[in-house]
Amino acid sequence: MDKLILHGPTQLSGTVAVSGSKNAALPLIFCSLLFDGEVNFTNVPRLWDIETTLGLLESMGAKTHWNKELGTVSVVPKLNSVVAAYDWVRKMRAGILALGPLVARYGEARVSLPGGCAIGARPVNFHLQALEKMGVKVFVEGGYIRAQRLGPLKGAVLHFPQVTVTGTENLLMIASLAEGTTVLENAAREPEVIALGRVLQDAGISIEGLGTSRITLVGGKLVTPKVPIRIPPDRIETGTWIAAAAATKSELRIVDCDVEEQTAVLAAFRRIGVPIQVVSATELAVGRAQSYEAGEFQTEPYPGLATDMQAQLMVNLCLANGVSRIRETIFENRFLHVAELRRMGARISTRGNLATIKGPIQFQGAPVMASDLRASASLVLAGLCAKGVTEVSRIYHLDRGYQKFDAKLRALGAQVERVPDSSLG
Ligand code: EPU
Repeated sequence: MDKLILHGPTQLSGTVAVSGSKNAALPLIFCSLLFDGEVNFTNVPRLWDIETTLGLLESMGAKTHWNKELGTVSVVPKLNSVVAAYDWVRKMRAGILALGPLVARYGEARVSLPGGCAIGARPVNFHLQALEKMGVKVFVEGGYIRAQRLGPLKGAVLHFPQVTVTGTENLLMIASLAEGTTVLENAAREPEVIALGRVLQDAGISIEGLGTSRITLVGGKLVTPKVPIRIPPDRIETGTWIAAAAATKSELRIVDCDVEEQTAVLAAFRRIGVPIQVVSATELAVGRAQSYEAGEFQTEPYPGLATDMQAQLMVNLCLANGVSRIRETIFENRFLHVAELRRMGARISTRGNLATIKGPIQFQGAPVMASDLRASASLVLAGLCAKGVTEVSRIYHLDRGYQKFDAKLRALGAQVERVPDSSLG
């Protein structure tokens, strides 16, 4: 296990290129299980979650090849097992995305039930209820979800009680091979869902309403994509760079991003006074401001402010003048970074899903521990603008979702070292 040692305060300068999106890549790679032939991908980020996904597919008999330098992945989806084992799913909850394609293609699946995680209980009951409506018998046994198709999969009208990103993705994949029309109501509108939907459309499935909360899909036959599927840029990495530039009062160019997906993030950061210029559809320029203003924010499903940006924004609010508030509406326990930020001097209190942040403060370097992916990013940002040395341990969380984050920071002028963490087993 590694830790990061940051020497602050620091300023960043230059240009940073955004890598392929983790949360788009995962469903797209799982979706290869729906096809007959080899499926190829480009712009695949070099992340632990990709390693885990390919390991899981291999454990079921698929042949995969990942050229990490080129960022290409190929999957030959011929399986000899429909079991997504606990050892894989416990490392990455997105392993639940195996459920849809397995049931659709092989008629049955045994997928380890993902446990809770640091940020919340994160049940998958909406995925399972929707599957049952399509004619699948589902039960939980020995920690595994067992799903068995009773007859042909039947299109259905499915209403999600709450917006679920991977739930929508799983059901899009199942419905593609079902008979007739499926309507997904209260569907997720996230760009990652649209990316998956477009691949299914290109493969011959009729889908209407992508990007809206009502998606209508007519199941059919899928044609294996002939051209490689390009993983779109990571919108949360893009937002994290905006937050990093703002926190360190730096001028930064962010390239290879998709500006259109950043509307809520741009609005949030501009509201506190961060000057951000849209250079082109794929490039942003973050400018320097003398000080920031407090603000009130709430996380929401897309197109609202992403919960995956909450921890990073909070670091910026610690530096703003006055009292800010963030209400976290997606996950019930996503304030684990608060205690660590407090150890660095932050004045944050929480009550239920509301965090109150008093600023401005000067972060002080301290040893801190990452609890989840976005919390890790927030601690690194705090470390960049802290006085003194910050040691962030358990950064395997960071490596799950940010490609070469510390190397990119070094290239922008930050003093960041990655060293083995001998204090942890
Ligand atoms: N929920 C249920 N039952 C379900 C499904 C969801 O109660 O069957 C609840 C969850 O507990 C949560 C809310 O609904 O309170 C939304 O959860 P959702 O299903 O949308 O989350 P997810 O699909 O498991 C994805 C991302 C997360 C991101 C959330 C919200 C992937 C692989 N993961 O998770 O990304 O935070 O959507 O946008 O796409 C991250 O990248 O750091 C990360 C956690």
